[in-house]
This record gives sequence, C-alpha cells and structure tokens, in this order.
Amino acid sequence: MAKKTRVILVGIGGATCSGKTTLAKHLKRILPNSVIIHQDDFAPPQELVPMHPVHNVQDWDAAPGAISWPRMISFLRQVKETGEIPPDHHSHDHLNEQKDIPISPEERDRWVAVFERLMRQRAADGGEDIVWGLVDGFLLYWSPEVIEQLDVRIYLRVPHDVLRQRRHERHGYHTAVQSDPEGTLWRDPPLYWEQIVYPAYVDASRDVFEAGDVERGAPSGKVAGLVLLESLEMSMGDAVSQSCKVISGFLEDA
Ligand SMILES: Nc1ncnc2c1ncn2[C@@H]1O[C@H](COP(=O)(O)OP(=O)(O)O)[C@@H](O)[C@H]1O
Ligand SMILES: [Mg+2]
Repeated sequence: MAKKTRVILVGIGGATCSGKTTLAKHLKRILPNSVIIHQDDFAPPQELVPMHPVHNVQDWDAAPGAISWPRMISFLRQVKETGEIPPDHHSHDHLNEQKDIPISPEERDRWVAVFERLMRQRAADGGEDIVWGLVDGFLLYWSPEVIEQLDVRIYLRVPHDVLRQRRHERHGYHTAVQSDPEGTLWRDPPLYWEQIVYPAYVDASRDVFEAGDVERGAPSGKVAGLVLLESLEMSMGDAVSQSCKVISGFLEDA
C-alpha cells in the first residue's frame, strides 16, 4: 500500500498588508513540501463582486461577499482528505509585486535543520509524509468551517496607521475575471481603504478579540489556540522563529 500523506494547514491571518504573504514565503522556504494557498484566489471573479450599498464602488472586502466561501471550504476539506493540493489550483499572486523583508540566513538554516531532523525522525518512526499548506488570508478567522480546517492558527496584528500607509504604497492587486485567465489589475479608488477596507476588516475580526478591540484586544477564544504576533514589535526573523516554534510543536505532537 502506498504510504499515506498528511496535509497540515497553517493559517496566517491578519488585515490586508499585515505581512501575511511575506511571512508565508519565508515559511515556504523553510518547510519541506510546502505550498502557499492564497485566500485571495477564492474571491469571486471581478464581474460578480458586490457593490457597496453606500459608497457605490465594488466591495472586495466585506466578508460575506468577498470570498466564495463554499468553494474555499470544500477546497480545504478536499486537500485534507486527499493529502494533496490539487495541481489545477491557479494563483494570481505571482503577478503581485512585493518588497522582500529578509531574515538572516543563519536563522533560516537553523529552522531548516530543525524540520529536516523532525521529518527524518518521523520517517524512521513510520509516520505519514507531511505536506504543508500555508493558508494566507485576510478573512481567515471569520468562517468557523475554515477555522476548523486549520491546524495551526497564526495572526499578524499591525496598527491601523501602518496598514493604511502600506496599502497606499501598493500599486494594485491582480484579480480574476471570467474572460481572462491572467486577470486584471485592481487599483483602489480614492478613500477605498478608509471607507471599505478597514471597516470591513473590523467587522470581520471583532469577534476574534476581547471587547471587539481589533487593535489592542487579547484573543477572545473564538479561534482556539490563536497565536497572536504583534508584528511591528518584532523583527521578521522573530516572526518567522515564533511561527516555526509553534509549527514544530504541532508536528511533534501530530
Ligand atoms: N515586518 C515588516 N516590516 C516592514 N514591512 C513589512 C513587514 N512585513 C511586510 N511588510 C511590507 O508590507 C507590505 C505588505 O506585505 P504583504 O506580505 O504583501 O501583506 P499581506 O499579504 O498581508 O497583504 C509589503 O510591501 C511588505 O514588504
Ligand atoms: Mg498577500
């Protein structure tokens, strides 16, 4: 019988521009057999994104309409059941430009060695092979059915003013359209972040924190085992290390 493969899903949540993709890419370089799953790829095609009822622009951020939830949930369930990330999973993220925030090679190599050792040990014990799914999402802890699929739950928290600044420095997002596989480039209309993005983030995230305080509240318990990283108060190397600590801890118990 073929050896079984187990998929472990590591959630990396937080607001738009909190650094999720940057962290996910560092972890991908460390974890053997890892794949990034971008929640943005489960957005509806641009033609189907709802209009905001007050501001009269398309609303890519309000949780109920921003993601095709049944599609994302069944994708995650299927990945877990089959032990494979389907090869037809097509992402637009490679088109998005990104500034690298490096970590030291020594720090990276140290974690690479830790995971190599853990995997060798696991193979010697006859454990299943592991595939890592790094699930990067701005609405990752909204749906209980999504939360349930995530084995490790990391949250990057960054203050309001820094999020706004980073978003304004961003040129746009490559998004899906029905007619074109390469998609199209979305640019924010004026005040889009202030009127649409941030209010939708607060709405979707308030339950995750005590007293609904997304800026300062402690985790409320909605997301069991949430690992909250205040990413501005640490270096990228520390964020990577803290994530690897939690992930390796999970692997040792798995
Ligand atoms: N720890 C950090 N310090 C400074 N800039 C950062 C940090 N993390 C990410 N950034 C920058 O912030 C922007 C958004 O990061 P990104 O990883 O694309 O966020 P997300 O995927 O959450 O939208 C990028 O320009 C990235 O280089
Ligand atoms: Mg991203």
